[in-house]
Amino acid sequence: MSLSQFLTALDSLEADATSTLRSIQDAAQLEDARVRFLGAKNGVMKDVQKQLGGIAVADKPAAGKRLNEVKQTLQGAFDAARDAMASTATKVTGPLPDPTLPGTALRLGHLHPVTQTIEHLKEIMGRMGFTTAEGPEVEDPWHNFVALNIPEDHPARDPLDNFYLATASASGGVESAHLMRSQTSTVQIRVMESTAPPVRIISLGRVYRPDAPDATHFPMFHQMEGLYVDSHVTMANLKTVLRVFATNYLGGDVEIRFRPSFFPFTEPSVEVDFHWNGNWIEFGGAGMVDPAVLKAVGYDPEQVSGFAFGLGVERLCMRRHGITDIRDLFSGDVRFLQQF
Ligand code: FA5
Repeated sequence: MSLSQFLTALDSLEADATSTLRSIQDAAQLEDARVRFLGAKNGVMKDVQKQLGGIAVADKPAAGKRLNEVKQTLQGAFDAARDAMASTATKVTGPLPDPTLPGTALRLGHLHPVTQTIEHLKEIMGRMGFTTAEGPEVEDPWHNFVALNIPEDHPARDPLDNFYLATASASGGVESAHLMRSQTSTVQIRVMESTAPPVRIISLGRVYRPDAPDATHFPMFHQMEGLYVDSHVTMANLKTVLRVFATNYLGGDVEIRFRPSFFPFTEPSVEVDFHWNGNWIEFGGAGMVDPAVLKAVGYDPEQVSGFAFGLGVERLCMRRHGITDIRDLFSGDVRFLQQF
């Protein structure tokens, strides 16, 4: 075979393959065409290549060069066609998305029932003119005990009844004066120390006690503290505020009762219960601020008087929502929490 015949055969192979490629519709046809033209055993290219042996030695370099060119061009064209088909295939598989359909809603969480309760209590008390104050959860003995008329030897300070924190002392030893606050009454002291009367505040937050968990107790819980100091504040004001509060939060048919009690920082003192499923459940302590406390913060008990209360937020939340076990609130079980 002469060089020119060889080159003509290559040209027609190239033209033939190129036009076949243009008419190809799917991946199967493409594969058939690839095998027909470039197949390693019986492809047309292979046939032409075999003719190379019959070309004159002097013409072999030119013939070989052109052969490689056509081979590479066709290989490239087949590869490109295969890639194009693969990307088109993924694009058009299945129905096109319908942009007019409503989207899939994101699953948003919501506030924990105790947080919702806190917001609700703030709102009710806000309507009675109580503003919100904050205090730290790690407290010193002055604010948790001393200023609240709870002296050194009082059983309420027992290490078994409090979460004391061990802190390093200046001398390198360990001292444990600070504690996780056991009541929000600490905020009464902080507010009165920094504010002249009249004072009308609530404070909501976590408190900590080493109480064994049961249906109505948990070692961490929340309290709403209330404090109202002004001239001529009486026990009647206290009872009215607590009744209005309970009616607003728990409904007009709620029954509450006041029981005589004792707290070192109020005199007289009461405990407040609501009626629920045939039982009286205590939801808070309250009383008239003890003159010793007013003195400790620099107020004059001859000029002002006040009432204070501390209510268990969880117990209020439970009564309102019919939750019978406080532990459910802190189990972290979304199936339970989702209901509120
Ligand atoms: C006090 O903590 C007083 N500081 C309340 C007070 C404030 C009295 C101001 C006078 C003036 P007591 O220890 O009773 O009181 O707790 C108040 C309320 O917190 C209880 O009635 C109860 O509702 C709630 N409570 C107490 N311990 C727990 C607990 N372990 N788990 C859940 N709630 C609790």
